[in-house]
Amino acid sequence: MTLDSHLEYRAGELFCEGVSLSELAVQFGTPVYIYSQAAIEVNLHRLQSDLASLPFLPCYSVKANSNLSILRFLRESGCGFDIVSGGELIRVLRAGANPATVVYSGVGKTAGEMDAALRAGILMFNVESAGELDLLGNRARALGTRAPISVRINPGVEAETHPYISTGQAIHKFGVPAEEAVELYRKAAAAPEFKPCGVSCHIGSQIVDATPFMKAFNEIHDFAVALRADGLPLEYLDLGGGFGIRYSDERPLDFLELADGLATRLRGTPYKLIVEPGRSMVGNAGLLLSRVLYLKRNQQKNFIVVDAGMNDLVRPSLYGSFHEIVPARQKPAGSMLADVVGPICETGDFLARDREMPEVRPGELVAILTAGAYGFSLASNYNSRPRPPEVWVHGNTAKLVRRRETLEEMIRPEEA
Ligand code: LLP
Repeated sequence: MTLDSHLEYRAGELFCEGVSLSELAVQFGTPVYIYSQAAIEVNLHRLQSDLASLPFLPCYSVKANSNLSILRFLRESGCGFDIVSGGELIRVLRAGANPATVVYSGVGKTAGEMDAALRAGILMFNVESAGELDLLGNRARALGTRAPISVRINPGVEAETHPYISTGQAIHKFGVPAEEAVELYRKAAAAPEFKPCGVSCHIGSQIVDATPFMKAFNEIHDFAVALRADGLPLEYLDLGGGFGIRYSDERPLDFLELADGLATRLRGTPYKLIVEPGRSMVGNAGLLLSRVLYLKRNQQKNFIVVDAGMNDLVRPSLYGSFHEIVPARQKPAGSMLADVVGPICETGDFLARDREMPEVRPGELVAILTAGAYGFSLASNYNSRPRPPEVWVHGNTAKLVRRRETLEEMIRPEEA
């Protein structure tokens, strides 16, 4: 296992940038999410430099990690946003986003959410059904405005990833088939309450092969070209997100290879590219720091019981995802095969299974790595556990960017 560059052992102590994890645990308690600014910077700069030759707008996918400090930082670094709810709209506006850089995806937009986004003046709605287009038209008319739209095409592209996060085939609820999309654009072009401005797709998440992205891109590109020949020029080609990263030993998506392919297709065309990266911006920048509570052993197995559970990080339970777990203090050789489990009353509450772990003891700290994306954003209060705090590390400084939820805060909405 090679650690990302923002993490390193110094004299046996694991540091995130210039701050030791043991110090962070003392200051903020455990479990706690830790984010590295330097890592986010590296991720974003890589994307920006790989696509530098193209007119393009990175719209960070807020669902991956919607902490306001992350949103503010990405906004200041030149990102727009991909949102999927009225709640995410409020967050990006609070983070100071220019609404003209916000795209709105999702199959279940409500009238209230549409109104809020129309009033804010977002860049475009990625429309996912005929019913949604009708409602959006009604809302735009009622508000005396025009709705900028792109239709999300389901390109029928198979992408190798977990079935729960694959989205680009006919068995999935997302987007519409190209033939239906043509009808939706015709309808939109004929009605003054719409402003067709793009075409979009999103084929899934954690995809490490460039080929399916190119297939999907070719599909939306050719679609836009055909529409233009039909008298309907569009400005944006939105490829969605889904760029895969390294959790264990997989080869992450070679974004440069994809960027080269996109550049070849886009050069000399009138289109601007939009991408919606989430995980690839923040995934490796975050870790979940947790303390070992107990060691248990039965006839078959060793269990390392830690103070973080599936309510804090659900990915291993939900998708069987692998997250590297390392000790905050390096140990002399000596390892044990164990399940790393949380305090939640479910067998599915594990962070690792049958993992070769260093011989940790109760009271010691472990870091669950690559937890910056879909970590806190999927956290819950299951088993009435308050959600953990989030801490932002930059150089030698650490700042609390979300405090630990209190038991009182958790219960208050239920009291009369
Ligand atoms: N755009 C759209 C329309 C999306 O639905 C998604 C993710 C993204 C962009 C960002 O995808 P990314 O670049 O982060 O792969 N909870 C799962 C992942 C769910 C992804 C949902 N959609 C996980 O923990 O792996």
